Amino acid sequence: MNEALAVARQKVVLAYSGGLDTSVAIPWLRETKNLDVVTVTVDVGQPVDLDGVRAKAAESGAVASYVADARREFAEEFVLPALRANALYEGVYPVSTALARPLIARHLVAAARREHAAYVAHGCTGKGNDQVRFDLSTTSLAPELGVIAPAREWKMNRDEEVAYAAAHGIPVAATRASPYSTDENLWGRSIECGILEDPAVEPPEEVYAWTRSPLEAPETPAYVRLEFEAGNPVALDGVRLPFVDLIARLNRVAGEHGVGRIDHLESRVVGIKSREVYECPAATVLVKAHQGLEALILPRDVLEFKRSVELRYASLIYDGLWFSPLKAALDAFVTSTQERISGEVSMKLYKGSAQIAGRRSPYSLYQAGLATYSSGDRFRPEMAEGFIYVWGLPARTWAAIGPDAAGAEAPKPRVARPHH
Ligand code: ARG
Repeated sequence: MNEALAVARQKVVLAYSGGLDTSVAIPWLRETKNLDVVTVTVDVGQPVDLDGVRAKAAESGAVASYVADARREFAEEFVLPALRANALYEGVYPVSTALARPLIARHLVAAARREHAAYVAHGCTGKGNDQVRFDLSTTSLAPELGVIAPAREWKMNRDEEVAYAAAHGIPVAATRASPYSTDENLWGRSIECGILEDPAVEPPEEVYAWTRSPLEAPETPAYVRLEFEAGNPVALDGVRLPFVDLIARLNRVAGEHGVGRIDHLESRVVGIKSREVYECPAATVLVKAHQGLEALILPRDVLEFKRSVELRYASLIYDGLWFSPLKAALDAFVTSTQERISGEVSMKLYKGSAQIAGRRSPYSLYQAGLATYSSGDRFRPEMAEGFIYVWGLPARTWAAIGPDAAGAEAPKPRVARPHH
């Protein structure tokens, strides 16, 4: 390679985990696409040795490498809005993996601008959701950047990748590969592949790492007291904590009690049904507590409408549309619902379950004088009769003129019928 060409080579910023796929991607991008590779590794709470990762990036042929501890940023700018929206994809999955992708994409774009790179790249395959999230997040933030997904293009299987790595001097961990594919961050851990691909089979105990089996969880329940201010969790058991630390603590105590295991028959963006197992102890407890506080504070119509927004919010995160006008608009709605969501929720953690034990708020719509069946009742039952008369008027009128009305003949349809 002559000097002039080497100088002219363009750069690509690669989302780098330090694993086999993204390590092999470094020489592959150089050889196949003639690009200099800059790696970016973002700590969102996965087990990662940032120094080790930088060393491995260099060994694998990267020209530069960035690492960032983005745990706080992830918690406050990505997890928190999702929690305020009680975001559960298909009603069960707290979108943990999905939430980290737009954050990583934002770091990729920032590095690409610093490095004057023309492309970003990621290690996703062509069958999953993550490629959709990386591609869409990147192009929404930086339409001028190209996106390359080496694993979508190369036709290598695992053995071929190992051979490719060996041929390029990339160290490969000697441990036998686990049958499972996992992804982790503060908000949860996902497990797929292996025996989990058979949805008829119960997930074996060995897939879990964050949660104890409910069978082996302590015999005595634990109570955790969560304090919210304007929709945000601010304290755990009376101790004010940054959200990122509150999540970490809650993951430990709830995981200890077997809380947060989720077995999801999931509908992927790309049309595939897949079986995914998650461990999301803190997310499970926090969403339940937050919903429980909202139930105390928000009127019925707001709660009902918010449920539909929540489903949509979870889907758009799942679908890779974090940086979209719909997300911004739904945020405005959610924020306006959270103003009064302040108070305290006590959660009981016991053998895999998380239940609300008690809740209170200065904005509680629950009024003892209205709800009670004992003395002190302020409700005026004589008003109920008139209310029911008006409330039921349309239904009563409908029934009175219909074919089922007692003794009534169905009115003859007035429409002209064709006759022969
Ligand atoms: N099915 C989950 C999701 O789409 C988890 C994906 C896990 N990703 C991974 N690269 N292992 O959010």
